[in-house]
Order: sequence, then structure tokens, then C-alpha cells
Amino acid sequence: MRIAILISGRGSNMAALLRAAAQPGYPATIALVLSNRADAAGLAVAEAAGVPTAVVESRAFKGDRAGFEVAMEAELARHGVQLVALAGFMRVLTEGFVDRWRDRLVNIHPSLLPLFKGLDTHARALAAGVKLHGCTVHLVRSGVDEGPILAQAAVPVLSDDDEASLAARVLEQEHRIYPAAIGWLAAGLVRIEGDVVTVAAPAASGALANPLPGPAPVPTNRSAS
Ligand code: GRF
Repeated sequence: MRIAILISGRGSNMAALLRAAAQPGYPATIALVLSNRADAAGLAVAEAAGVPTAVVESRAFKGDRAGFEVAMEAELARHGVQLVALAGFMRVLTEGFVDRWRDRLVNIHPSLLPLFKGLDTHARALAAGVKLHGCTVHLVRSGVDEGPILAQAAVPVLSDDDEASLAARVLEQEHRIYPAAIGWLAAGLVRIEGDVVTVAAPAASGALANPLPGPAPVPTNRSAS
């Protein structure tokens, strides 16, 4: 399956996808890396890997989102793209684009959706005091950061975490689950029924807890003494 990766910035998830696609037997080819900004650092990484790149400057369209998308879709068509992976792509897509690419448009988001949609997810997770945080790969629907979930990874939130340490722990997992999820889609292992996705691939079993519950606390009976 021919994939386009859409980026706006450093492109570490893009790089993880390029590494996966370079492995023998991976069921997808990265046909195009497309950025809406010419200064996206990820473009140089893609070029160094010999992957075709394109820039469609969103700024040049001055709020004409449909026109911007027509130009992007011309690039997607030119490269025979069958599936689009958003990887730090900082433009909201129109409902028309999302509908045209229904079930062929995926995103990675740095939280355990449906918690913390939108920006600053790590700061918001710390402020909310959650004990588990993580990342989600999902099919894109018209609401921002909404759509059927393909894969999630959870990490503990530690008491001495700051935004950077938590982001780094989550990012490591993003780099694992995004290539895996795209591989499942490309291999036809994914069944989508309404909001629920079933993947015919090995799944983790058991529970993930943080802090880990230790031995049960010994009950004290103050009134007995
Ligand atoms: C990642 O945290 C991703 O989850 C979010 O944007 C960030 C992009 O990082 N959508 P990178 O450009 O892939 O390094």
C-alpha cells in the first residue's frame, strides 16, 4: 500500500515510519512525505532517506482551506497515494477532505483519547494528575482528534515528571505503535464497525497499573485497643 506522511515539523514519527517501511516484509511503501511548511525539519530526513517530498505552503492559500487541499490532493494523486498518515501535521482538514479519505486517513495523538484532545496534552495530563498517560493512533473523522481507535499505548506518569520527561516517554511509544498500526491497515488486518476497530494481530493481555498495587494493606482496628 502506498502511503503519504503529512508533517509540519520535526517528523520523528515520520522517521519511525520510514525505518519500519525499510524493513523487509513491511506491507507499506512511503510514496510521499508532504509538508505544509518548507521549513519542516522532517523534510531533510525524508530526502536523506531517498523518499519523495513535496511542499504545499498552507500560508500561500490565506485561509482557503479547500484550495490548499486541492493542491495537496494533486500531489497525493501524482504519487499514487492510497493512505494518508498525519504525523504532527498542524492543519485542521475540511470535512470534505476527511470524507474523501474516510478509513484511509490516520492520525497519531499524544494522549489516551478521548482524554486531552487538542494541544498541550502532556501539561494537561500533569495538571489533571492522571497516573497513566499515552498515545493513540486513530482513523480521522471530522471532529478534531476524533475517530475510531486503532492502537493505544499507556505509560506511567511519575511523581517527578515534567512536561519534557513525560513527552519523551510517550514519544517512544508513538514510534512503536504508529508503524505497527499502519502496517496492520496496509496488510488488511483491520475491521472497522462503527466506532470500534478490531485488529487481527497479537494483542497485549493483562492489566497496566501505576502505581503498582503492592500487598494489601493490613487493616488496623483502632477501636479494639
Ligand atoms: C507527536 O507528538 C504527535 O503525536 C503529534 O504531534 C507530534 C509530532 O511529533 N500529533 P513529530 O513531528 O512526529 O516528532
